Amino acid sequence: MSKDKLTGIAVAQHNSRDSCWVIVHGKAYDVTEFLPEHPGGQKIILKYAGKDATEEFDPIHPRDTLDKYLDSSKHLGEVDMSTVEQEEKTADPEEVGRQERIKRMPPLQACYNLMDFETVARDVMKKTAWAYYSSGADDEITMRENHSAFHKIWFRPQILVDVENVDFSTTMLGTKTSIPFYVTATALGKLGNPEGEVVLTRAAHDHNVIQMIPTLASCSFDEIVDAKKGDQVQWLQLYVNKDREITKRIVQHAEARGCKGLFITVDAPQLGRREKDMRSKFSDTGSNVQASGGDSVDRSQGAARAISSFIDPSLSWKDIPWFKSITNMPVVLKGVQRVEDVLRAVEMGLDGVVLSNHGGRQLDTAPSGVEVLAEVMPILRERGWENKIEIFIDGGIRRSTDILKALCLGARGVGIGRPFLYAMSAYGQAGVDRAMQLLKDEMEMNMRLIGVNKIEDLNPSLVDVRGLLGGHHASVPSDTLTLHAYDPLQAPRFSEKAKL
Ligand code: LAC
Repeated sequence: MSKDKLTGIAVAQHNSRDSCWVIVHGKAYDVTEFLPEHPGGQKIILKYAGKDATEEFDPIHPRDTLDKYLDSSKHLGEVDMSTVEQEEKTADPEEVGRQERIKRMPPLQACYNLMDFETVARDVMKKTAWAYYSSGADDEITMRENHSAFHKIWFRPQILVDVENVDFSTTMLGTKTSIPFYVTATALGKLGNPEGEVVLTRAAHDHNVIQMIPTLASCSFDEIVDAKKGDQVQWLQLYVNKDREITKRIVQHAEARGCKGLFITVDAPQLGRREKDMRSKFSDTGSNVQASGGDSVDRSQGAARAISSFIDPSLSWKDIPWFKSITNMPVVLKGVQRVEDVLRAVEMGLDGVVLSNHGGRQLDTAPSGVEVLAEVMPILRERGWENKIEIFIDGGIRRSTDILKALCLGARGVGIGRPFLYAMSAYGQAGVDRAMQLLKDEMEMNMRLIGVNKIEDLNPSLVDVRGLLGGHHASVPSDTLTLHAYDPLQAPRFSEKAKL
């Protein structure tokens, strides 16, 4: 045993609310006074009082969290990990089954489209991680509509155009990019891969696509920026903190570190209710419910709510000029859901909007981004405003035909989130790389088939939106890949055994 290190036995003495120490990455911390302030609630920390909390801590907290939020006097130093009693893990049948499925995973080459990654991820991801990524709000109507809305748009392809050379590179917010999609912000990357968001950074670099860095990433902001190479471009997605000084620091730091766009999330004054996420958390912590009382944060609301209590619900249009005053980055509103708000964004001189409903995770039965796009573009053109602002959409994009439909209607680019998380969770960076390559291959083929050889030539005459705008009752061909990948919502489950 080395001399200066704490022993596991010493740490284990501090296993209560009155004196609570935890071990994270081989170091001990006194979190007794911090307990009431923990955004994720006290209960989860108390579960690890006197023990090693690294595994639970890691996906949810960027590496610099303890340095930032816990006074250095509470940093107790290194622990001799050989003296820490290993938790005996009871063989969870679900985990045993998952490990067995991992051994039988389809080879990466067997994934031919973005949905395939989702189907594999569902079977190999930890249940709680899958629940967090895949869940949508309420009945998940909007989440599913995001994808099926694209099936209500049909192409009107043109023929006999020379499509020998096809170029789908474009510019978004002044940045040249190889293909008109970007990796949009999604939270908690380490739930799916131990390295987290930096995996997406590397793949984005290799494909020359832009990455939007999430506020609620598992990696720290600086780790994600440090992972970029050369002149790779990143944007910042911002959840606005109630403390505007913190917000200002985040924004100005991002600009100083080279971010080229500020995307303010405006569709989440409160995080939506994702029942799949809630249900999986409930069964996880169920056994500890009686172990501690007086917990102000309700963990049964799932991961999302636990990590988002800092978001300012009072954010309003009044704040927008302030954002423009603190940064020179282009300012974009992410999560615009109706025509009137796009027009207002133009009037306020914003640089862009993302027509988005947050992947169907916020207001259920909010319209899909592509539907709002189809409604707003004719109005912008009528006013001669179509070049005053860049319009992006996200949600439900799984094929290059979806990207092309959005661009024909007038979008500058599209954001893709979950598919890259699933590819990363199932196959790591190689998975994300393949997902991006598949989209590029599809893009080349489909541009040829539509009869267009460069992005500027995509235009509204190439699509028929009567099915989309003709009302929500328009019939939609069912998409069997989606039906297979879609994980239906569940009713409450009965226990395996009768209660005594
Ligand atoms: C979510 C937030 C954190 O949708 O973006 O879970």
